[in-house]
Amino acid sequence: MKPVRKAVLPVAGLGTRIQPAAKTTPKNLLNVYDRPILAHVVAEGRAAGIEHFVFIVGRGQGAIEDYFDHAVELESGLEAKGKTAILEDVRSDLLGPGQMSFVRQMAPLGLGHAVWCARDLIGDEPFAVMLPDMLMNANPGALAQAIAAHEAVGGNIVVVEPAPPGEAHKYGIVALGETAPGFDGRLQTMTGMVEKPAPGTEPSNLFISGRYILQPGIFEALGEHAKGAGGEIQLTDAMLKRLRAEPFFALEYQGTTYDCGDKLGLLRANVAWALADPAGEADVRAALGALLGA
Ligand code: G1P
Repeated sequence: MKPVRKAVLPVAGLGTRIQPAAKTTPKNLLNVYDRPILAHVVAEGRAAGIEHFVFIVGRGQGAIEDYFDHAVELESGLEAKGKTAILEDVRSDLLGPGQMSFVRQMAPLGLGHAVWCARDLIGDEPFAVMLPDMLMNANPGALAQAIAAHEAVGGNIVVVEPAPPGEAHKYGIVALGETAPGFDGRLQTMTGMVEKPAPGTEPSNLFISGRYILQPGIFEALGEHAKGAGGEIQLTDAMLKRLRAEPFFALEYQGTTYDCGDKLGLLRANVAWALADPAGEADVRAALGALLGA
């Protein structure tokens, strides 16, 4: 079985739900506690063994490329002032030579189209898709959990979790078959999936939450450019086509997801990450308590 070495990160979305905060800053560079959302997601990928990140970007998103490269003035300034800890923290997010690629998605035609734009860079090997709006707090990380499942059963892995009551219609929803051995019953074969089901028609309450391991055959299905929910080329529809040819498994991962494409989700993620920092937790609790009048 070929290892999962590359990850595709579709970042070109307009960030409609979070405007005007993302008007001049790419939405995935908005902050969660101590670094951009995207830096947290890339760290999750690196911890899972990803060696090459393929960012699918739109116009005006050059700051993403700059973030993962050296900032010469900043680094030399920190060095001159002896701010070693800050310098190390800044440098810890840099990607190495040849570890990042940027592909322009020239029109916002949907998530499936964004992933299809990576086809030549992925080639003939299984790969990860990470939706950077979805910040996942988990240990081991959500992608590492998906890769462990892939190593156990092969095929395609889709990370899922229960949808909040009444919200399944906002997501891709999976239909499930048998339970695979191990993983405490959290790994199940998929028998179907539907993108943005009409309320009341959902085949389960488990939604596709933003981490996938896919076989390269997906590009054949994506290349049909069939439009689905919202008139967009949907990754879920292409996966459903590939379900006839390859096994798909849904992994209910262990962790908490924050939808950072949403104002409240971004706020919750900031609080969660702040509380998780042992050095700052007491101050964060005191500040929150004062704000809430506790
Ligand atoms: C996308 C996927 C959907 C998934 C969701 C998670 O939808 O198409 O299957 O459940 O991300 O956030 P979008 O949020 O782009 O509408």
